[in-house]
Amino acid sequence: MRLTKTELEMLKGNEGPAVKKAMEILVALGKIYGAERMVPITSAQVSGVSYKNLGDAGIEFLAEWADAGANVRVPTTLNPAGMDLKNWKELGISEAFAKKQLEIIKAFERMGVEISCTCTPYFAGNCPRRGEHIAWSESSAVSFANSVLGAYTNREGGPSALAAAIAGRTPLYGYHLEENRRATLVVDVEFEPKNQADFGAMGYLVGKEVKGGVPLFRGIKEANLDQLKMLGASMAASGAVALYYVEGMAQNIQTAPTPKNMKITEWHIRKAYDEMNSDGKKFAKQICVAHATDSRGIGHTPESAIRSRAQTEGSVACYDEKIDLVALGCPHCSIDELRQIAKMLGGKKIKSGLWVCTSRKVADGAKEERLIIEKSGGKVVCDTCMVVAPLEEMGCKNIAVNSGKAAFYLPTHCKANVRFGSMEKCIEAAIKGKWNSKDA
Ligand code: F3S
Repeated sequence: MRLTKTELEMLKGNEGPAVKKAMEILVALGKIYGAERMVPITSAQVSGVSYKNLGDAGIEFLAEWADAGANVRVPTTLNPAGMDLKNWKELGISEAFAKKQLEIIKAFERMGVEISCTCTPYFAGNCPRRGEHIAWSESSAVSFANSVLGAYTNREGGPSALAAAIAGRTPLYGYHLEENRRATLVVDVEFEPKNQADFGAMGYLVGKEVKGGVPLFRGIKEANLDQLKMLGASMAASGAVALYYVEGMAQNIQTAPTPKNMKITEWHIRKAYDEMNSDGKKFAKQICVAHATDSRGIGHTPESAIRSRAQTEGSVACYDEKIDLVALGCPHCSIDELRQIAKMLGGKKIKSGLWVCTSRKVADGAKEERLIIEKSGGKVVCDTCMVVAPLEEMGCKNIAVNSGKAAFYLPTHCKANVRFGSMEKCIEAAIKGKWNSKDA
């Protein structure tokens, strides 16, 4: 790897032990991935903030780096922590957890990182321009930055993003190079996605298919920023997608010489919804088997018949199940989403818990909506989210979400039963305290 004179000095330790350590991490990565050189970055975004994920070893690692004099040299923001940094007591977070979480925040603060604690930094002031090289690590934000904003970033790990922030550069490989930004899968969308959950369900299917490749969507007539945010987050969870294109919206689309193809119809989306509901996995399989084995052709077996059989066998949750928590805002809500939620609640009282996760900056700009949500009994939760907060410790078992990414991670990260549906359906569940599985 070719290093400039300055970079060699940094690596030798002439700028102190913290910069030396950062350069060692970056050079090691560059060698593994065959980077020819470093590229300067304009911003960084660091994940790995919740004490739930970092543990004591993580605190030690960060504190040591801060003690060695580490300081970021480009604007650097932080992913959600394990709790709302101001209102953690009201959320039921234990003192022991809060103490550890605050130690982590302190270490980042000492390094000059902005304590933004959001996975949608682009809604909160860290919004790179087209063509800028950056080092971001939150997978959904990486996808948004590459695909919607037109920036260039790999899916960094927390330590490598922090190293890049401290050194102000990152090795030039992967998605920093044009040749790796070509679409490898063309997805023909033959249904009309209507809301964030539809985009999440579509992302769930495509992520599983394309894995670490680059999908190009054809046939999407319109999509707003929140829907694209949900699509990217879902694909980053069920696959490892860091970049996608939507024909008619993305600029500079590049396609590999022989991309694969897939199509998504209403039927595929139905199946995805069933799979993404915790008890629906077996049911979705039954639909597939029924379709595959039915000699009269695809789609002949009435779905209602399979559903009722599955219900009898106990593989699909019963109708009207109790919901402990409705959790919206994965990735963190935009101001538009806060408005939609406030409008849907319309002053009605809720019976389950309701978390609306967002960044503090967005929440501060939505005081009216916050008031409406809180008057209904919900909470606008900042700095954290339903996946990285210790929900399991807090006794939340049945959680309803409208996010493909949250639906993917909640069963493993929080041992929760997930109900996945549109924002309207989630709000209806919060008001009734129950999830209606009838038209899930
Ligand atoms: Fe953000 Fe948490 Fe979802 S970090 S993308 S809200 S899992």
